[in-house]
Amino acid sequence: MNFEIKNNNVLKQKADCLVLPIYQGKIQLDVVQEFEQLSNNLISNLLKKGDFSGKVGETLILFNVPNIATSKVLLVGIGDRKNNVINSVSKISQSVANQLSTLNSKQLSVLMPDLAKTHVYTFVRRFVEEVIYHCYRFDQYQSTKADSIKTEKIVLSITDKTLVTQAELGLTHGSVIAKGVATTRTLANQPSNICNAQYLANSAKQLSKQFSSIKASYYDEKALAKLGMNTYLAVGQGSQNESIMTVMEYHGAKDKTSQPIVLVGKGLTFDSGGISIKPSAGMDEMKYDMCGAATVYGVMQIVAELNLPLNVIGVMAGCENMPGTGAYRPGDILTTLSGQTVEVINTDAEGRLVLCDVLTFVERFKPAAVIDIATLTGACIVALGHHYTGIMGNNDKLIEQLVAASNQADDKAWPLPLDDDFQQQIKSTCADLVNSAGRDGGTITAGCFLSRFTKNYHWAHLDIAGTAWVSGAKKGATGRPVAMLVEYLLQQAH
Ligand code: BES
Ligand code: MN
Ligand code: ZN
Repeated sequence: MNFEIKNNNVLKQKADCLVLPIYQGKIQLDVVQEFEQLSNNLISNLLKKGDFSGKVGETLILFNVPNIATSKVLLVGIGDRKNNVINSVSKISQSVANQLSTLNSKQLSVLMPDLAKTHVYTFVRRFVEEVIYHCYRFDQYQSTKADSIKTEKIVLSITDKTLVTQAELGLTHGSVIAKGVATTRTLANQPSNICNAQYLANSAKQLSKQFSSIKASYYDEKALAKLGMNTYLAVGQGSQNESIMTVMEYHGAKDKTSQPIVLVGKGLTFDSGGISIKPSAGMDEMKYDMCGAATVYGVMQIVAELNLPLNVIGVMAGCENMPGTGAYRPGDILTTLSGQTVEVINTDAEGRLVLCDVLTFVERFKPAAVIDIATLTGACIVALGHHYTGIMGNNDKLIEQLVAASNQADDKAWPLPLDDDFQQQIKSTCADLVNSAGRDGGTITAGCFLSRFTKNYHWAHLDIAGTAWVSGAKKGATGRPVAMLVEYLLQQAH
């Protein structure tokens, strides 16, 4: 699907469908009033009769309106004039997106509402992001595609010429971000028989071929063993699939040696629980246990495509947690890359074991900040539901910046406390740490575990267990928190 900005009169634009934003109440946009004259006050009559009210997100399709060139017209409510349209952008965009399969139109021309100059960028960007998001389908394995969308082109028509530059920037950012989110979703949606750690590595190789600014390198089991990443290896040792850590480096800052922002993604391509095996109901969803890695991948694509003036390093910690004769067991004592030892209480608390070694490994990049992204604990869903990503860390400013970015991008995150009281819970009787501290405060004790390996840099941890995918009829990866992280990086690039 292509988007384009045009500074024109939308009523003269050739298209299959015209999309008009309609305010609640009498006063409408100039172009809408022009439409009224041509159509013999069609909209005012609808409003008068109560057939359409103009409340945010309401839609109505009209056919063959007299004196209007397009065969279809879609009315979209944008609410009361007193309220700022920018606050309703996601609802408005979603309503338009939801009509696309019904509309069956190849080309749409959309009249932009009258926005303040400062809001044009955000409106266009969010509109593009939302529409592409809602048109995404993961149907590559379906022989009959359920409801594919015919729309090929959407022209956004702007009446005020002075707003075009801002709109163009919103369009560029919006479409690049939306494409990256789709990349993350498609990678995350792949089943575990296709997407193993090697597949993640191959994907990175592809990205580095596509963008000369990205360099990819790989650490297979032999290389991981040489480094001493024993807990990472222990998690993968029950699987036939090789554990592979993939590192993607992007040096876009003026000073190529300036400190990078490092992103670390949990990449469990399947988490069966291992010897502490999970119940079978819903276990299929553990193919999504690599959503952290998929997030890192999508963000790297966006960073390269936008040519951000930053140095960013993305690590995908790929492996698979399986039971078997070779598998690690409860009771095992492992020595991490940092030298600290861990008593394995539960082989299903594997994410932290993989991440802790990677978090030690990335010290070598002398990072300005490290952010790990992980589907780490079921407890995070209990705490924050499916609305908020959990956020913890060792630097208040970094956490604040990430929370602000999450609000800006409408990809919400909420901080959880990581204080010393919780650290007691991860003491072991025979090693330095246990990998599982029971139910109470499970998300936080997992964060505490990671904090033992992140003392040498500013660090934040995003627990995306509740936000990375949805279950049920619409089962699939959401692409969260790509938008939040890109927003953070855009702020850092400023
Ligand atoms: N990948 C899971 C966490 C998870 C579970 C995410 C369900 C989303 C939905 C993780 O590896 C895990 O199994 N965590 C355990 C930790 C426990 C054994 C301390 C959990 O949350 O039950
Ligand atoms: Mn697990
Ligand atoms: Zn897991």
